[in-house]
Amino acid sequence: MAQRKDWESNDDRCVLCGKHRDVVRKLVLGIYGGICTDCVSLCLEILKSDSKSVEPLVSSKTLKPKELHAILDQYVIGQDAAKRALSIAVYNHYKRIDAPASDVEIQKSNILLMGPSGSGKTLLAQTLARTIGVPFAIADATALTEAGYVGEDVENILLRLISAAEAMASSQDEAIALAENGIIFIDEIDKICRKQDGPSITRDVSGEGVQQALLKILEGTVANVPPQGGRKHPQQEYLQIDTKNILFMCGGAFDGLQDAINKRRNVQGMGFLATSVDAPPLVTSTELEPEDFVRFGLIPEFVGRLPVMCALDALDEASMVRVLQEPKNALMRQYARLLELDGVKLTVTEDAKLEIARKAITLGTGARGLRTIMERLLGPCMYDLPSQSEVSEVVLTSGYVLGTSELEYRYKTQQAA
Ligand SMILES: Nc1ncnc2c1ncn2[C@@H]1O[C@H](COP(=O)(O)OP(=O)(O)O)[C@@H](O)[C@H]1O
Ligand SMILES: [Mg+2]
Repeated sequence: MAQRKDWESNDDRCVLCGKHRDVVRKLVLGIYGGICTDCVSLCLEILKSDSKSVEPLVSSKTLKPKELHAILDQYVIGQDAAKRALSIAVYNHYKRIDAPASDVEIQKSNILLMGPSGSGKTLLAQTLARTIGVPFAIADATALTEAGYVGEDVENILLRLISAAEAMASSQDEAIALAENGIIFIDEIDKICRKQDGPSITRDVSGEGVQQALLKILEGTVANVPPQGGRKHPQQEYLQIDTKNILFMCGGAFDGLQDAINKRRNVQGMGFLATSVDAPPLVTSTELEPEDFVRFGLIPEFVGRLPVMCALDALDEASMVRVLQEPKNALMRQYARLLELDGVKLTVTEDAKLEIARKAITLGTGARGLRTIMERLLGPCMYDLPSQSEVSEVVLTSGYVLGTSELEYRYKTQQAA
């Protein structure tokens, strides 16, 4: 009790450093005394540096390929071959990071994803990153330029990854450590192909130069990233980040690659096995070869750093319907939830779903088209409903999708009757 008395008389001083409350910004008082703001900051620093050494950088990176595949299934419809290849690549990537030093140096399994627009390339990459809990950044290859040109330097991609990591970290150093194990998705990679003949290659500003600039960071290098845009960092001018454990995924539609592959088939068939290419079958992952991408305009060194290649399929009607309703955050569920908040039930008939899928395919933007169509279809009712408290249900029929009938409203009184 005597001790308690001492504490009580010490309410004016920090119990840790002893500074008087007049010389500190604030004294946080507890039952037995107060702590000054300086000590609170100091404790925080100690905890931060402590947690950095104890916590694993990538918490669930031990997920096995099958487990990864199963999680991807919850969000991405179809694309089984790509899911398999990705699951293996990601599993091997984090195994490689953890592997004890040895004579055999395992190469990075950077990934090249090829598939039509809206088939799930970005979605796959995003879902993977979220699943394994590493920082993830998306960059658009078309925005990149060689150093010294107007546009984004390739280092900016790394800066974006560091920014993503900052949200998961409590200090800049920790953010960089997290980013060094992150995933970067470079989209529209087919748009930085070097100039060559062919109808599909329309844009080439400095494509080859950008590929050259990307080589180093794909392979693994300690890059100096100018922190502008990121958090201010008074001690140093550049943030240093080692890219050797960053997994790179590059995605592109590669329109016309089909032709390139057919050409290759032709060459192989010349002489004794001249196969007909009148109706070229779809490209599958196993048929992709580095040379096809080289012929398309990626430089060999660049393709060489993307050893895992997957082809995604265009989504057919049945897959489109599944995309509409099956994934955890499927569009149908989202709209149903939106209406539910207004106390209205959304019913979409099976025929209507099929018509929506058909319409989406004609838009040519893959599953992206579904959103456009749903927005158009439900826009009017989302405008009306909030001021119509008597509506209990909205029924979306194929007739409405085709424009031959109106959206059906069911009313509360109607149901009661
Ligand atoms: N296979 C798929 N499964 C589920 N949703 C998909 C699939 N493909 C595309 N989507 C939907 O379409 C949108 C655009 O897909 P995205 O992955 O960005 O296409 P891209 O292949 O052009 O990168 C996603 O937000 C997602 O909702
Ligand atoms: Mg995309």
